[in-house]
Amino acid sequence: MVEDFLMLNPGPVPLSKNVRDEMARTLVSHRSSEFAETYQQFRDGLDYVFQYSTVDGSSSNDNGMSIPLMGTATMGMEAAITNLAGPKDEVVALDNGKFGERFVDIADRNCLVKPIRANWGDSFDMDSIKETITPNTHVVAMVHQDTSTGIMNPVKEVGEIAKENGAFFVVDGVSCIGGDEFKIDEWGVDVVVADAQKALAAPPGISAIFATENALESFDNAHAGYYQDLPAYVKTTKQNKTPFTSAVPIVRAFVVALENIKKEGIQNRISRHRTQAQANREALANMGLPMFPNLNDYSNYANTVTVVNLPDTISSNPSDLFNAIKQRNVAISGGHAHLKDLILRISNMGDLSTTQVLRGIQTIGEALCDCGVDVDIDSALDIAEKIL
Ligand SMILES: Cc1ncc(COP(=O)(O)O)c(C=O)c1O
Repeated sequence: MVEDFLMLNPGPVPLSKNVRDEMARTLVSHRSSEFAETYQQFRDGLDYVFQYSTVDGSSSNDNGMSIPLMGTATMGMEAAITNLAGPKDEVVALDNGKFGERFVDIADRNCLVKPIRANWGDSFDMDSIKETITPNTHVVAMVHQDTSTGIMNPVKEVGEIAKENGAFFVVDGVSCIGGDEFKIDEWGVDVVVADAQKALAAPPGISAIFATENALESFDNAHAGYYQDLPAYVKTTKQNKTPFTSAVPIVRAFVVALENIKKEGIQNRISRHRTQAQANREALANMGLPMFPNLNDYSNYANTVTVVNLPDTISSNPSDLFNAIKQRNVAISGGHAHLKDLILRISNMGDLSTTQVLRGIQTIGEALCDCGVDVDIDSALDIAEKIL
């Protein structure tokens, strides 16, 4: 019997049945009072996740605002930069993966960009960050966990440097928010971006940012795209609507996904994600797949996505491995761009059960065996089960 399709690619992630069902409900207008009520619930749910993603359950910010955006996280990244910085403002953007590169590209199109680069998967050199960010820097932008490499970057340390130099700090929290800790004030963050389709386990298509009072007071649409006018979003969000037509079915489903998170409790959810990531890391290491990120004292492994190097015998022809995974009705990703054939990325974002995590490990083990790599699947599963 073929098991149900399981998405373990790092986004979009599987949707719970109640989230999927919500999208099928009879449509209402985005200007109706019914939708305004839904929108208020949406904002409350986002506030809960953005503000309480702490291990001890304390609030990480008390004066900011969740702002849903009717576009994906890239819209949030671009909106944050272009509403805080203009063509003559210096933006320091950190790039050690596909999404850090995206911040560099966005800043390059709209501002004076000063990139700080490391090879994808490598850790940033803290000394060069300290040298590059100066009092002339208007915005510092970085990715907390780059989904393309599985590294967790040092947001707290970079936030301190940004604040010391009086710069705004914009952070892509896309693959972290809803699955791991994120401390807005303590890390000096002014704007954080989240995406529906990652650890929040909502359908793809929309995103949200959380802006602190400092950022809200400074948003200026003079150089922002018409659709990314954050002052307009702030104004309409407070009235429980969007400046343009709302993605009603996705918003409704997102509300249910946020209710699921509240039911689980964000602290329990963070701890589950950490445990599941550890199980993936240790089981894959046991199968001879070393971690891809090169850590230093300031970086860590992401707790929502695990990225490993493929053995040389596989990376010369990785399609056999990915076909063997696909035949088992599971989706797991390879790398982006130059990493395409070299790495494997498995997600544990969202509402995954222990059984689903174990199925991912078993699938990788069986696919490796199909490709002639000798792995002890039982021992890897045993390690994972003990952790889970
Ligand atoms: C860390 C990170 N940032 C930004 C994005 C961009 O998201 P989207 O394609 O939904 O705009 C992604 C998507 O995978 C991501 O993983």
